[in-house]
Amino acid sequence: MGPSGSGKTTLFNMIGALDTPTKGKVVVNGHDMGSLSQQQVAYLRCHNVGYIFQAFNLIPVMTALENVSFGYNSKRVLEGVDLTIAAGETVAVTGANGSGKTSILYLLLGLYAPQTGRLLADGTPYSSISISSLRRHIGVVTQDPVLFAGTIAENIAYTDMDADAEAIEAAARSALAHDFIADLPNGYDTKVGESGVFLSGGQRQRITLARALLKRPRLLILDEPSNHLDPETTAYLINHLAALPERPGILVITHDPHLAEQADRIYHLQDGRLISTANVLATTS
Ligand SMILES: Nc1ncnc2c1ncn2[C@@H]1O[C@H](COP(=O)(O)OP(=O)(O)OP(=O)(O)O)[C@@H](O)[C@H]1O
Ligand SMILES: [Mg+2]
Repeated sequence: MGPSGSGKTTLFNMIGALDTPTKGKVVVNGHDMGSLSQQQVAYLRCHNVGYIFQAFNLIPVMTALENVSFGYNSKRVLEGVDLTIAAGETVAVTGANGSGKTSILYLLLGLYAPQTGRLLADGTPYSSISISSLRRHIGVVTQDPVLFAGTIAENIAYTDMDADAEAIEAAARSALAHDFIADLPNGYDTKVGESGVFLSGGQRQRITLARALLKRPRLLILDEPSNHLDPETTAYLINHLAALPERPGILVITHDPHLAEQADRIYHLQDGRLISTANVLATTS
């Protein structure tokens, strides 16, 4: 325990050999961390330190890609990409179809690992943290929202079956879904999916957004939110989400330049490179 800046995280990092002491040694399970091979340190981080982070419930306030290059098989999609998203800020990534926007989402979720470079949550490489515990703090609304057979409430609580009705409604209100849900024949108990009521793409998207918000994510990723929502609703939603009390970091993936303008920072993905639009203007002027 100690005040901010007193060195708590540095101490933590030393246990995972992320920082090394200038004097003395760090001993974990009887092993001097300074005398272990890279491979042994990696093993220790995965098998011991991962659990320590999990126990302390690491909450990412900053997520970053550092010089990331990535591709599927031999096809290169991203080249030396740097990107940081801090809690409380909205970052937009634009780019043509197939430019690799959704691939960035896959990397942030730890579904794929980059070929070179690394990802970090709060300065800690993904390789040393429990990805499943990290994913609990990342809310995602995918390009094509998927609902499961069941009620609306069950769909919102899909990843948190213990959530009570109050929390489900609060998440739906934050996702601007409450009003249309309340108008349905059985409200939150209305069945959706194959044998249930028909919902529009925008309604499905707001239900999946409520699902993402229910877990109070520290990072919220919206992949093409304007696919199913009109521009006014999308703009309102982005501003509304940025003002949530938990203030998650928000990554908006979009091909819509007007939507991107709602963000604090805008990046453009082209030929695998992620360029800040400030730089784009600088290079074209
Ligand atoms: N699982 C995969 N396996 C192989 N190739 C893939 C896979 N997912 C995506 N790709 C390829 O990687 C490239 C980038 O795809 P990605 O989905 O990241 O683009 P995007 O910018 O999100 O496109 P869109 O605007 O159409 O959503 C594309 O050429 C795509 O065909
Ligand atoms: Mg995509």
